[in-house]
Amino acid sequence: MRVTLLGHGRLGSAIAEGWRLTGAVSDPTILTRAVPPVCPPETQALVVAVKPAAWREAVAPLLATLPVDAVVVSVMAGVLADDLAAAAPGRPVARVMPTTAVAQGQGVAAIWSADEPARALAHRLFDPIADTVDLDEEAMLDAATAVAGSAPAFFYALAQALAAAGVEAGLTQDAAERLTRGALRSAGSGAGTDASLEDLIARIASPGGTTRAGLDALVDADLNGAGAAAVQAAVSRAQALARGD
Ligand SMILES: NC(=O)c1ccc[n+]([C@@H]2O[C@H](COP(=O)([O-])OP(=O)(O)OC[C@H]3O[C@@H](n4cnc5c(N)ncnc54)[C@H](OP(=O)(O)O)[C@@H]3O)[C@@H](O)[C@H]2O)c1
Repeated sequence: MRVTLLGHGRLGSAIAEGWRLTGAVSDPTILTRAVPPVCPPETQALVVAVKPAAWREAVAPLLATLPVDAVVVSVMAGVLADDLAAAAPGRPVARVMPTTAVAQGQGVAAIWSADEPARALAHRLFDPIADTVDLDEEAMLDAATAVAGSAPAFFYALAQALAAAGVEAGLTQDAAERLTRGALRSAGSGAGTDASLEDLIARIASPGGTTRAGLDALVDADLNGAGAAAVQAAVSRAQALARGD
């Protein structure tokens, strides 16, 4: 497939690296500010990976060379498909929300499009580098971003809190941090298997044991409320950013 990638920052370069590693897309045209804003005539997909504030200015000069049947695939948070379609008239639009682990071919990516061929093309681009999750509504992309893109930071924050508690319980800072990071790596390797989250928990938490006691304490301390508050706050912020607030 002939792909033009607009933007080669943190996410754009991760996508290009994943394509290179997996061979999913060979020789994409990568447009940075340093090269002329021209799409090769055979471009089938324009993947837009610039910051939301920069996209109009970045896409406008490409319209003269972007084929009318090319699909615009946006990986930008908070830029609506209608706005992209209005800026690139006639071209179908797909929105994808990937994580930067696509660089290792291990990302996760939510996909939405109102246009089935555009959705299928987005799958061809991202299936080789991510676990792709189809969404029924564009509005769900904000929730998907919260539970995929933002959630690693939420896990790190919980790990930080656990390490701090380990220090309170007598561990040195260095020991607590290394042990907690190791625990996070173990959790990550479990998440890479096919086991459900419930099974992964059950494998560690035997009835009446120490882990079960800790899990019960987390629930008593409103773990579910904390998770809901984090996701709701991230979704509200995404909606505010989309409105330009
Ligand atoms: N990072 C993530 O984990 C992540 C996850 C999901 C979605 N996203 C989305 O991905 C998009 C990019 O995020 P990012 O973190 O990769 O940002 P970034 O690191 O700032 O990358 C954006 C890149 O776009 C380039 N750019 C700006 N205007 C351009 C133009 N006219 N022509 C060519 N290149 C241009 C920038 O170049 P300059 O530095 O020269 O301005 C920069 O290299 C955002 O819309 C974000 O919502 C990011």
